[in-house]
Amino acid sequence: MVNLGKIIVIAGTPGTGKTSITRILSDKCGLKALNLSELAIEKGFITMYDEARNTYVINEEKLAQYIQELSRNIEDYVVIQTHYPEIIPGELVEKTFILRTHPLILEKRLVEREWSKRKVNENVMAEILGVVASNAVSVFGEDKVYEIDTSETKPEEVADLICSTIRGFTKLKPGVRIDWLTVLKPEEVLKFEDYMGSED
Ligand SMILES: Nc1ncnc2c1ncn2[C@@H]1O[C@H](COP(=O)(O)OP(=O)(O)OP(=O)(O)O)[C@@H](O)[C@H]1O
Ligand SMILES: [Mg+2]
Repeated sequence: MVNLGKIIVIAGTPGTGKTSITRILSDKCGLKALNLSELAIEKGFITMYDEARNTYVINEEKLAQYIQELSRNIEDYVVIQTHYPEIIPGELVEKTFILRTHPLILEKRLVEREWSKRKVNENVMAEILGVVASNAVSVFGEDKVYEIDTSETKPEEVADLICSTIRGFTKLKPGVRIDWLTVLKPEEVLKFEDYMGSED
């Protein structure tokens, strides 16, 4: 018998706090936690290496199969952090938490990583447009997608909020969307528009 809805997804643009928050959540909430990209590399669920983008291309079918097996064999929830929530089979997912960060704060966090201007702009633009959130909503539906603003909140507080929502002491509501375009001035958006063409 397949246990449906055992997976909790933590997703978001790079730098929104997935790794920091998932680590605390796993400890506090007593849940097994996995990083989807690390899992794919560790298990060899890779089709090729994309030299241009300096990244592995994931074998999504094998990864989805593995997650299905895992959710069958584990009693409690499993937390999976990823940039690409849409890879996880929707019927296995109970809740998806999308971490959101104010684009100007995210820019600072990514610049601190010494990423190229192009890579910073590309990711900040993805956050401005809410790419991860809208993909999650289109795959899992409004009712499974919870957005959390991590700009000013400590990772511990965010992890507490997620844990209590998972365990049913609900504080968060699904379907509440964050739209940075309503918060930013036009010039603050245009600052990141050269993300497509510029060289590293
Ligand atoms: N809620 C927060 N408040 C302040 N700083 C935070 C918060 N969450 C994360 N950070 C900081 O932001 C940085 C990025 O966090 P983290 O590495 O967890 O992001 P990530 O989403 O896992 O990124 P990636 O997708 O690249 O792995 C870290 O330096 C972390 O300390
Ligand atoms: Mg991370």
